[in-house]
Amino acid sequence: MEQKTILSVKGINKSYPGTKALTDVHFDLRQGEVHALIGENGAGKSTLMNIVGGVIKPDSGQIMLNCKEVKFHSPKDAQDAGIGFVHQEIALCPHMTVAENIYMGRIKGNILSMLDFSELNRKAGEILSLFKTGITPQTIVRKLTVADQQVVEIVKALSLDCKILVLDEPTSSLTESETEALFVTIANLKARGISILYISHKMSEIFRICDSITILRDGHFIDSLKVKEISPEIVISKMVGRNITNLYPPKSTKVTEKIIEVRNLTRKGVFNNISFEISKGEILGIAGLVGSKRTEVARAVCGIDQVDSGEVHFEGEKVHFKSYRDAIKRGIAYLTEDRKIEGLFLNLSIKKNITASCLEKVSKFKIINAGAEKNWANSFSEKLRIKLYNVNQKASSLSGGNQQKIVIAKWLSINPKLIFMDEPTRGIDVGAKSEIHDMLRKLSDEGIGIVIISSELPEIIGMCDRVIVMSEGRITGVLDAKDLSEEHIMTYAASSQEHGFAG
Ligand SMILES: Nc1ncnc2c1ncn2[C@@H]1O[C@H](COP(=O)(O)OP(=O)(O)OP(=O)(O)O)[C@@H](O)[C@H]1O
Ligand SMILES: [Mg+2]
Repeated sequence: MEQKTILSVKGINKSYPGTKALTDVHFDLRQGEVHALIGENGAGKSTLMNIVGGVIKPDSGQIMLNCKEVKFHSPKDAQDAGIGFVHQEIALCPHMTVAENIYMGRIKGNILSMLDFSELNRKAGEILSLFKTGITPQTIVRKLTVADQQVVEIVKALSLDCKILVLDEPTSSLTESETEALFVTIANLKARGISILYISHKMSEIFRICDSITILRDGHFIDSLKVKEISPEIVISKMVGRNITNLYPPKSTKVTEKIIEVRNLTRKGVFNNISFEISKGEILGIAGLVGSKRTEVARAVCGIDQVDSGEVHFEGEKVHFKSYRDAIKRGIAYLTEDRKIEGLFLNLSIKKNITASCLEKVSKFKIINAGAEKNWANSFSEKLRIKLYNVNQKASSLSGGNQQKIVIAKWLSINPKLIFMDEPTRGIDVGAKSEIHDMLRKLSDEGIGIVIISSELPEIIGMCDRVIVMSEGRITGVLDAKDLSEEHIMTYAASSQEHGFAG
């Protein structure tokens, strides 16, 4: 039986200066379905959802809720109409507790205007327990990991008792078990007749949990399809407008001299006895479950955090980086997993962001040469195919995936000899992903050492020539390209024993 249409958007147009974000877009959402919205970075997915969620107003078009036209003037209007929203970027108040964040704007005091905090904490605890994380309602948000903050965002939307829930890339920083918990929650909501709009670049998720898909390309509606009637290949080709055959470039053919050797690095209580080396021409992967301390190892090698013991030899010389600045001077870059906090200056222009780490390249006598700055930024924007209007635009005006590309451009700008990339393609669409992968292979062939930390096993397997697997702060296995498989990696990732390691 065809379920009834609960939300219908028609003829939506939205322009920004220099960009037509949406052109005459339409789609229908039925009651109790999980409906995916997909498209490349900058296709207009978040813009469309922001219109449905009352965050921005369309230039024209209609939103019909239960066959009646609605006009939202604020997110509150949409909320009152039963639309819950988990945004692509986390937007919690860092200094408030989890419970306060969840019920913010809806907290009512009693007659004496006293807040019943214990009631608030109890209610928040109830929904949080669905996710089986260690998050307590009383925790101050800034003390949580990005993954846990994302859980709080989701719990906040769930607490609204909505009829339609919009999830914009909700799993981009969730751990495996939190993703599973979210999928169980989605199934429960669906069973209760709640409709879900689901944005993701992960095809496997879409084919697992969604009932139908609407595809956008360059702000245009391309198609709406039932998931059980199509394949990922069809979806990808409709989304990018061409066939993508080779998802990953060929593996390394020539390994030459050693770039870095890390020996028995230990940071007490965090990681232990970490040893590995990287040579020119190879891409090293670090795999492991979220929380296995892969990021911490990268940060320590780059001088961001200090270690208790162990040695790092870089280009044949023992080094001790007192700060990240020291490492950058030697040509070591670290691309952070959290672009919003550590990677990007959202309020600055694209060109300022790209040149932030290589100012000497665009200045003379300490004065920035505006022309050089612009050319530099333009050349990287073209190389990475960043979808922009011009490089003077603020970084905040780019779509999420294109912001991630800016972070990559920024670190490539310093001409690194070694680059650690922590979840480099998070939030990046399939087409752009394969471009970035090709580019990484090319850089590696040119002699730049590349380390990829990724939770996406296909990416690790497709890209790396050697992989170290970590679990609970230790290396539990080392795999050569020929031995790479999801099963092997997962066995080591779930293990707490060391299985010996090669260099
Ligand atoms: N405030 C803004 N000012 C100018 N342009 C904007 C603004 N917000 C979005 N855009 C542009 O509108 C287009 C659509 O962006 P949107 O964020 O909707 O893409 P998306 O499909 O969500 O991409 P992603 O997968 O990268 O998140 C992009 O070209 C983007 O740069
Ligand atoms: Mg988006």
